[in-house]
Amino acid sequence: MTFLGKLAGGVLRGQGWPRSTPLLRGCLSAAALVASVDGTLSLAKRNRLDQILDELSGAQSFDLHRAVEFFESELGRIRADGRAGRSAALGNLQKTAGDEGAVALVLRVAQAIALADGAASPHAKSAVGDIAAALSAPAPDLSQAAAPQSGAARVIVIGNEKGGTGKSTAAIHIATGLAVQGKAVACLDLDGRQATLSRFLQYRSASGNALSAGLAVPRYRRIEPSAAPERAQGEQEERSLFEAAMTELRACEAIVIDTPGYNSHLARLAHARANVVVTPINDSFIDIDALADIDRERHEVRAPSNYCRMVWQEKEDRALRGGAALDWIVTRNRVGQLDSRNTREMAALLDVLARRMGFHLEPGFSERVVFRELFFRGMTLFDLAEEDVARSGRASLKRAKSEAASFLAAVTAPADHNTKAQRD
Ligand SMILES: Nc1ncnc2c1ncn2[C@@H]1O[C@H](COP(=O)(O)OP(=O)(O)OP(=O)(O)O)[C@@H](O)[C@H]1O
Ligand SMILES: [Mg+2]
Repeated sequence: MTFLGKLAGGVLRGQGWPRSTPLLRGCLSAAALVASVDGTLSLAKRNRLDQILDELSGAQSFDLHRAVEFFESELGRIRADGRAGRSAALGNLQKTAGDEGAVALVLRVAQAIALADGAASPHAKSAVGDIAAALSAPAPDLSQAAAPQSGAARVIVIGNEKGGTGKSTAAIHIATGLAVQGKAVACLDLDGRQATLSRFLQYRSASGNALSAGLAVPRYRRIEPSAAPERAQGEQEERSLFEAAMTELRACEAIVIDTPGYNSHLARLAHARANVVVTPINDSFIDIDALADIDRERHEVRAPSNYCRMVWQEKEDRALRGGAALDWIVTRNRVGQLDSRNTREMAALLDVLARRMGFHLEPGFSERVVFRELFFRGMTLFDLAEEDVARSGRASLKRAKSEAASFLAAVTAPADHNTKAQRD
């Protein structure tokens, strides 16, 4: 959860636990105060607190055990002392209000806990109001924004604002992989001008081979960017086309959306509706650079890229409004066969990034010519029968097929599995 990342970052940046105690305690008191008002502490609120503590425990200077103890004792005290306990906790919070950043963090924690059950109860709303008053700040918005809705379909968006990283290749494999499994899958091509995914599907349906082999062809829609001269009008047009396509496709089990390799309004609309975002990156430092500004010497993230910020923000907004969680998966594409020093350094840096940005890494594809061979036949590795692969005598084809299967399993795994992987 991004706000938790910020919380951890804000609290612990360059400081040990003892020096940052007032702010950290402020955050935990706010959480305890809001959690105490609804009688029993719901599972959702407990999970949210667990996440806060998990985030904090990632920092070495942080003593998780002490924080848990602090939260529990604060919660117990507020409950036992009733009104007096609440006043004391509010008094503690006032000591926290050093600067604007601290106040904002404390309020975000209060807001997150209040919304952990999907909608804030009247008690939770009044507790957050009291906290804001004690900190002389305006109360955060606890009204519920509509959670993304797209019928029953699982929306898998492939995105990266860098071009040529393997987005369309990933989209093609996910869509055909699901179709071969017999799933009702549809595609939406938002890179309508380049239209790689649409062209592939046209080849697939037109190909005599594909038809005679009875290959499943996913339904698809293609949207081109609006040509309207006014930006507002263009965005309005794009939104209506996008919504119409999503409504039309929503009865499917999955909608796979390919996006262009640059910042676009259509891509942002898609990310706002995603259940899963898959971000392929080429196995090179240039591609890591497109995700974040990294200090290679110190193995540190200096600043996330605009694309990272966008996904990060989306995850955070979902968490705050209690909407469906967004699972963010990054896959390495065109991985070299040799275990070079660069490859190992990439892996280490991606680990650092994953923890900072809240994504998880899953296996991608090695550098393989077979994708290009199959593309013009409208086919993927999933369409090749095991016997044909064995008969071909190409060991690399067998490896490619199993790689594709692992990739598909990773990006279509149930959210629980992915959330667990993320936390691990
Ligand atoms: N693992 C791979 N091995 C070999 N070639 C690959 C691999 N992945 C992708 N390619 C090739 O790299 C090129 C770019 O891939 P692709 O079109 O999937 O990227 P993209 O991110 O969709 O690009 P764009 O941003 O332009 O839409 C294509 O020619 C594709 O066949
Ligand atoms: Mg593409």
